[in-house]
Amino acid sequence: MLKIIKHHTSVFCLAYFLVGATFISGCVSGQLGKNNSGEYRNGMVVSAHPEASEVGVAILKKGGNAVDAAVAVQFALAVVYPNAGNIGGGGFMVFRSAEGEINALDFREKAASSAGRDMYLDSAGKPIIAKSLFGHLAAGVPGSVDGMVEAHKKYGKLSWAAVVQPAVDLAQNGFKITKRQASELNSLHRDFMKFNPDGTAFISLESTWKENDLLVQSELANTLKLVQEKGRAGFYEGVVADAIVAEMQKGKGIITKADLQNYHSVWRKPITGDYRGYKIITMPPTSSGGIALVQLLQSVEPYPLKRWGHNSDSTVQVIVEAERRVYADRATHLGDPDFYNVPKNELLDRNYNTQRMSTFRWDSATPSSTVLAGNVKGKEHEETTHFSIVDRYGNAVSITTTLNGSYGSLVVVKGAGFLLNNEMDDFSVKPGAPNMYGLVGGEANAIAPNKRMLSSMTPSIVEKDGKLFMVVGTPGGSTIITSVFQTIINVIDFGMPMQAAVSAKKFHHQWLPDEVYTEKDALDSITTEKLKAKGYRILPRGAIGRVDAILKTKWGAYQGGADPRGDDKAIGY
Ligand code: DON
Repeated sequence: MLKIIKHHTSVFCLAYFLVGATFISGCVSGQLGKNNSGEYRNGMVVSAHPEASEVGVAILKKGGNAVDAAVAVQFALAVVYPNAGNIGGGGFMVFRSAEGEINALDFREKAASSAGRDMYLDSAGKPIIAKSLFGHLAAGVPGSVDGMVEAHKKYGKLSWAAVVQPAVDLAQNGFKITKRQASELNSLHRDFMKFNPDGTAFISLESTWKENDLLVQSELANTLKLVQEKGRAGFYEGVVADAIVAEMQKGKGIITKADLQNYHSVWRKPITGDYRGYKIITMPPTSSGGIALVQLLQSVEPYPLKRWGHNSDSTVQVIVEAERRVYADRATHLGDPDFYNVPKNELLDRNYNTQRMSTFRWDSATPSSTVLAGNVKGKEHEETTHFSIVDRYGNAVSITTTLNGSYGSLVVVKGAGFLLNNEMDDFSVKPGAPNMYGLVGGEANAIAPNKRMLSSMTPSIVEKDGKLFMVVGTPGGSTIITSVFQTIINVIDFGMPMQAAVSAKKFHHQWLPDEVYTEKDALDSITTEKLKAKGYRILPRGAIGRVDAILKTKWGAYQGGADPRGDDKAIGY
């Protein structure tokens, strides 16, 4: 049985502050540091966990650039935010240098080489949901470590050892868990025991977890030290690879040593688009997020959202109708570009998206059953986490990374101390069968050996007049795309400062099911009644998204937006 180290501490000094409860524009004092309105000049990190944001800012203060800080934050989140931060998962990075160079890194997981189209179907051809969601068979080949190695190799300034060290320290010495984390770990106790009968650092044997308990992860610290010493070989080869394969054999998983050795992240050309004079730089496939985001922006651009107002009935109606059409396209046309010819140019054609909106009528909701994916011709060749970083030079990094579900497959690699993802559920397990986010798909996103599963993650950067304007992204499964979209229009159309744009209540539609989900108080009762009268099915739900974003103001300061829906924190200096 693994020794569980758990210390109760009495001091609570989390000192949360959500930057920008008040935003007073204009008054930047001097060159350095904070002004009176929660704005900063030199750099900023906004992430899902205060400790990870601290790590990122410490790297920036040491002279690291935004990519150095991003690598350090990714590894730190793998320690302090194990529900989504990871080395056993994957993600996407969008980068913009101070000089305006843009790039995108796809470190999404891949299906193992022996994966097959029907691997999650029973003998009657019905999906066995538990298999794609939990346990060893749910895991894709992890991409995060290779992604960080590649990002650092291309853009890093500090040494690799220096950027991995903070995560090693956090794993070795422990960190104090938040109240939210304590309650999550307690509620998952039984599931962790089921998939990890020998125990893991996440299981408290003495009692239940409490806020401020110290979570020490010594096995993870050893794995991180190997990654620190050997780079990608520390993870994809040697004892860590052996441990992953041994774990697979224990639980009927299929990832092999060769799968690990053959995993490589891919640099891809970002998707770019224009919206009301702003340039959107976002993630290309294997994520659907970037294409869908630009499609949504193009679909609503002809409408006077600003005049109609935030979350007014007309604004909501146009956005819902745009989302209905764009998500229908997503289900049919998007998949791993290395396996499927994604009709990118057609989907990003402004005329195409305007045409799609022409079937929408003001007097009644368009039933989703009548909206098919657009007929595009010639094909050309709920856990995730997002963080946004800017440095003093003006470089910007937007990373969304995930294990898919909260704590992924719930399998901790014995001896290596990290969770494996359950990303295989993001494939279309069977045409038309919904995944855990209710998303459907078909051929484009069918399972195939070594293929990447389609994602909704939408790490994005926005430029205005050739200069950095915003860094934005969020977790939230299928709601990611709409959350990023609504955050961007909250700033551009509704003039909100960054924190207000992040905090603002959201709503979501994804074609199927044909329902509009709303956060509490997102729509007032009159708006809701008006929309219901037109045939919209409006259903309340919990939090939508957990956006972490940074805005560069006209006067050159950074404003943070840390989502109050989580423990997220913006730290600038
Ligand atoms: O890649 C995707 O789209 C999903 N695996 C993301 C999962 C997610 O955002 C869960 N977070 N709440």
